[in-house]
Amino acid sequence: MKNTTATFAAMKARGEKISMLTAYDYTMARLVDAAGINAILVGDSLGNTMLGYESTIPVTVEDMIHHGAAVVRGAKNALVVVDMPFMSYQASIEEAVRNAGRIMKQTLCAAVKLEGGSELAPTIAAIVAAGIPVMGHVGMMPQHVNQYGGFKVQGKSTQAAQKIIDDALAVEKAGAFAVVFECVPADVAREATERLCIPTIGIGAGSGCDGQVLVNQDMLGMFDDFKPRFVRRFAQAGKLMQEAFKAFDREVKGGGFPNDSESFAREPQEVKRLY
Ligand code: KIV
Repeated sequence: MKNTTATFAAMKARGEKISMLTAYDYTMARLVDAAGINAILVGDSLGNTMLGYESTIPVTVEDMIHHGAAVVRGAKNALVVVDMPFMSYQASIEEAVRNAGRIMKQTLCAAVKLEGGSELAPTIAAIVAAGIPVMGHVGMMPQHVNQYGGFKVQGKSTQAAQKIIDDALAVEKAGAFAVVFECVPADVAREATERLCIPTIGIGAGSGCDGQVLVNQDMLGMFDDFKPRFVRRFAQAGKLMQEAFKAFDREVKGGGFPNDSESFAREPQEVKRLY
C-alpha cells in the first residue's frame, strides 16, 4: 500500500516504528521499495555518495530533480521525500516556495525536506500553504558544516539541547509532517519525540525516535572512507561487488566471458552465405 504523510501520522499514533533509507537512482529505489521500507529520502547526501563532493554544499536543485525523478519512478509504495539543497530555500520565502514547487512538479515526489529550526518556520509554513508537505531537519545540519567547523554532534549542553527541542516544536507548529533529528544525544531526541505530535526520524539520535533513517551506501557497507559511530553495516555489499568486478576481469582476460550461451548465433545456412 502506498505510504503517505497520513501513514506516518498513523504509525506514530499506533507506536509503530517508521523505516526510511536514502536512495538516489531507479534501481536502488526499486530494491528499497520492494523490501517494504516506509519512506525513501533522496538526500542531498548524494553530493557525497553519488557525486564525490566533500560536503552537500555544491549540490544543486537540478541534481536533486535529476535523482529525485528517477527514485520516484522506482518507488511503488514508499513515500519519497526529496531534500532541498543548500541556498535553494534560505535567501527568501518566495524563492523557497518556487524551488519546493519545482522539485515536486518535476520529480513527482510526495514531500520535500529542509534543514533548520525556528528561523525557518515562516518558510516551512509558506511551502506547506502551497500544498507541499515538508519534513524538517534539526540537530546536526550538514549544510551548516562551515559554521560548525566539521560534522559534530549537536545539543550536548543543556542550552543547546533545549534549542534543538524548541526548534523541532517550531517546525511542527509551522506545519511540517515529520522531523529528522541528526547527531544529537539520545535523551534529547527521546524527550523531543515525547513532546512532538509529528513523527521524529533519527540518524545518530538513539532509539527513542519514532523512526530511523540511514544512508544506503553506509548501511550496505559500500562506503568505507569513514564510518560514523551511528552507522550499522547490515551487509558487506562493497566487498561482494568488488569480488564480482574481479571475477569479470578474470573471465574477460581469460577468454571465459562471454560463452556461447551468452552470444548470438545465425542459422547455419545464413552463415555459409558470407563466404
Ligand atoms: O541527505 C541526507 O541523506 C540526509 C540524511 C542524513 C537524514 O539528510
